[in-house]
Amino acid sequence: MSKALDGVRILDFTHVQSGPTCTQLLAWFGADVIKVERAGAGDITREQLRDIPDVDSLYFTMLNHNKRSITIDTKNPEGKLVLETLIEQCDVLVENFAPGALDRMGFTWERIQELNPRMIVASVKGFGPGPYEDCKVYENVAQCAGGAASTTGFDDGPPVVSGAQIGDSGTGLHLALGIVTALYQRTQTGRGQKVLAAMQDGVLNLCRVKLRDQQRLERTGTMKEYPQYPNGTFGEAVPRAGNASGGGQPGWILKCKGWETDPNAYIYFITQAPVWAKICNVIGKEEWATHPDYATPAARLPHLKDIFAEIERWTMTKSKFEAMEILNKYDIPCGPILSMKEIAEEPSLRKTGTIVEVDHPTRGKYLTVGNPIKLSDSPTEVKRSPLLGEHTDEVMAELGYSPEQISALRTAGAI
Ligand code: COA
Repeated sequence: MSKALDGVRILDFTHVQSGPTCTQLLAWFGADVIKVERAGAGDITREQLRDIPDVDSLYFTMLNHNKRSITIDTKNPEGKLVLETLIEQCDVLVENFAPGALDRMGFTWERIQELNPRMIVASVKGFGPGPYEDCKVYENVAQCAGGAASTTGFDDGPPVVSGAQIGDSGTGLHLALGIVTALYQRTQTGRGQKVLAAMQDGVLNLCRVKLRDQQRLERTGTMKEYPQYPNGTFGEAVPRAGNASGGGQPGWILKCKGWETDPNAYIYFITQAPVWAKICNVIGKEEWATHPDYATPAARLPHLKDIFAEIERWTMTKSKFEAMEILNKYDIPCGPILSMKEIAEEPSLRKTGTIVEVDHPTRGKYLTVGNPIKLSDSPTEVKRSPLLGEHTDEVMAELGYSPEQISALRTAGAI
């Protein structure tokens, strides 16, 4: 079966996490992704957080599936020429170097346009134009600068960063959308363009509801779905809301049987209004269904703490999976707190290709997260990440270099 991005060739000049997330997605959709790395070293993550000596780390392998790797020293004059040939023959250049690195290498937007006016140049940077545009940025910096950290955690504690890599992988996702959009526009204009996804912007986009709340707070001085209501105080900025669901349907994380020893014996429980009567029945508080203090969402708001304490008395008598089974029968929205171990072992995720076992020549078998986006006409087959420079000769030959030229460039240290 053909793939959605068959025929699209990507010059993948990315490293670490944000850029590689983007190009891995494009590769899963069928693009030919050629990862350019420095000979001898490669993407720094190949050697970061290694669990097996001298073997590409899981950090690297899990972000670089379905790509080809070619080594080029792009600061070597002959290496630069090879990169120019690649630019001429690719559709998209994706990079996430520190600001200015590509220009310093000699590959300004103007130069790239001269070489290939159809080229789309896609970049992840920490910040867009402004006071921080020259800064180097990693995941947690973006979470802090994009509004996620100040709004995550509990009211009486410090800001907290999330385990979800919304700064890196989140921005990679944004960039991938920008690239396919630019490819689509190119079908009409015939021209390439620059695509920028700044990590601060990407995180803020995911924190959109908190900017909504900032304006609500400024107008009304309170927000009824926040745990600070009605007994706590609100300041000038959106506070941390703990585990409150934030929407019109109050929710919280509640203990389940075994919580004393299992750090993940918890369930997320939502007191959705339409199923309130069923919730009352399940937890044995039938009288709350009609009691004036509990019968309506507005009446319940000042009592949410007590309500969740009562529901928790019930959830603590069940394992999270037993509670799920009972609650789902009544359409009561809830979700188990799953550990990474439970997720890794979940058969249904293996079946859908969301968790995939991959074989690697030096590492052996390992698990990875497959393509979370499923296209019915472009199924994803996850292939192992490339070894450093594994495809240099193959790609160079496709670019038109003879075996003699390849060997001379290698001797000159250009590839
Ligand atoms: N041949 C020769 N030189 C190469 C090369 C190659 N194949 N590939 C990269 N380089 C050089 C670059 O030209 C640059 O050199 P310069 O500093 O002399 O201009 C250097 O290697 C690496 O650049 P840099 O991006 O500064 O790496 P770093 O390790 O210092 O910084 C980041 C890492 C992630 C902080 C930085 O790249 C960054 O801020 N990126 C943008 C935001 C981002 O994506 N952050 C999240 C990462 S998950």
